[in-house]
Amino acid sequence: MAGNRTFTMIKPDAFEAGNSGAILKMIEEAGFKIVAMKATRLTPELAGKFYEVHKERPFYKDLCAYMSSGPIIAAILEKDNAVEDFRNLIGATNPANAAEGTIRKIFAKSIEANAVHGSDSDENAAIEGNFYFSQLERVL
Ligand code: TYD
Repeated sequence: MAGNRTFTMIKPDAFEAGNSGAILKMIEEAGFKIVAMKATRLTPELAGKFYEVHKERPFYKDLCAYMSSGPIIAAILEKDNAVEDFRNLIGATNPANAAEGTIRKIFAKSIEANAVHGSDSDENAAIEGNFYFSQLERVL
């Protein structure tokens, strides 16, 4: 059975552009409940840890620099079939390929500065939520 939680970040490009509120509105209107949330900022080292699975990829270094370039919002979201439904809401990694009406299509600037993160599995949703939030911060 699919899990009911996923993890998201509003990335530095969207935060800096003042799009956090509009993105959170789309997320809530799509039926996701915010069960933990904070504004924060990654160091390059923490960004490296978060994206460790990509460390052999050519874009890894730039991605870590970009993700630590400004504030972000991190949140845990709840909904039935959360991971898959949220991936559909955000759209393809590259906004050029993202479907009309998706968050990345509307707000992303490039494949790197692509507005939002969404976990790709239930297992990673739990790992990523635990990366940002202590037990006390996710009691809901
Ligand atoms: P990935 O996990 O493939 O995409 P998604 O975020 O849709 O799950 O990649 C992680 C992030 O790495 C992606 O959101 C943006 C960045 N990235 C690049 O900068 N260049 C690339 O060619 C790819 C594939 C990803």
